[in-house]
Amino acid sequence: MRILGIETSCDETAAAIVENGTKIITNVVSSSTKLHEKTGGIIPEVAAREQIKCIIPVINETMKQWGNGAMERIDAIAVTIGPGLIGSLLVGVETAKTIAYVTGKPIIPVNHIFAHFYANWLNKKLPQFPAVALVVSGGHTELFLIASHNKFKWLGGTRDDAAGEAFDKTARLLDLGYPGGPAIAAAAAKFRIKNLELRFKNKIKLPRPMIEEDNLEFSFSGLKTAVLREVNKLKNNKQFNRLTIQQLAYEVQESITDVLVDKTLKAAKIYHVKSILLGGGVAANLRLKEKFSILNPPAGGRFSIHIPPPPLCTDNAAYIASYAYFHNQPIPWQNIQAKPDLEVEV
Ligand code: KG4
Ligand code: ZN
Repeated sequence: MRILGIETSCDETAAAIVENGTKIITNVVSSSTKLHEKTGGIIPEVAAREQIKCIIPVINETMKQWGNGAMERIDAIAVTIGPGLIGSLLVGVETAKTIAYVTGKPIIPVNHIFAHFYANWLNKKLPQFPAVALVVSGGHTELFLIASHNKFKWLGGTRDDAAGEAFDKTARLLDLGYPGGPAIAAAAAKFRIKNLELRFKNKIKLPRPMIEEDNLEFSFSGLKTAVLREVNKLKNNKQFNRLTIQQLAYEVQESITDVLVDKTLKAAKIYHVKSILLGGGVAANLRLKEKFSILNPPAGGRFSIHIPPPPLCTDNAAYIASYAYFHNQPIPWQNIQAKPDLEVEV
């Protein structure tokens, strides 16, 4: 079964064709991140206008890459209906509905957050149930128990800022630009390479929010305040320079990744799972991957760890199509609606 996935929940316009939920045939992503760099964050109106410009060229390119008659060879259409930015979502949803109407093909509505961890079904090593999934994106930090494809349970999430938001906001405080995750990661890597000795004497210490608490919740807004305090202190002492910025970036990344690993492991142990699945833009973070990788069975761990390659962590339509294959529940196109606040707590 070949599914055309369409994803427009935020600032990526994406279309992909996936076979049987596991094999990517084509995967095209156009991102308007460069535009948002100038404003230091996403302006929803600007993102929506870019979606309108890109959606048809992106779908056309996806079809072209598969060759003649691609549309006829598609069995169904999958589209992200939420959560996300309403203006952006509407572009994908209305386009997908139009294709369904014109071609008569079934259309499957997809929850963007659940779909994120289906990027792990596009990898060579397939996950086993039961699994714990951690979705870490710009707007979400959620833990799920996945008993089977049809049985998800929300275990916990963030009380305030999401992990990606914490990267983005602290990067702004450190003048590192947008998007914050890759910017913090790059600055942290420089500190790590150049200053091995200093790293062990790192005077800047940030909190690991809620790590000691015996629950599966997160909170990252305090981290941002702690960074602001350190930045002000450094500025007052005229020590806010490239080295201290890199040092702070290193500590931000250590703090966020420590908490994410700790809470995910707590969940994995409570529910005796076989696999840990990651998804979302923050899962592209190499330090996070490094910390999880040592928990893999060959390295002595108890769970198989599944982290998609970075281009499948950030927003794309391949995992939308994969999710739709495993939850093949089409509904009449007339009933498909964009839902910016679509629930994830199931
Ligand atoms: O899943 P995603 O592409 O879009 C949403 O659905 O939000 O996630 C975007 C988030 C941004 O906050 C970005 O800073 C973060 O993922 N991100 C990273 C990395 N790459 C993207 N965070 C940490 N390290 C990275 N390498
Ligand atoms: Zn996303």
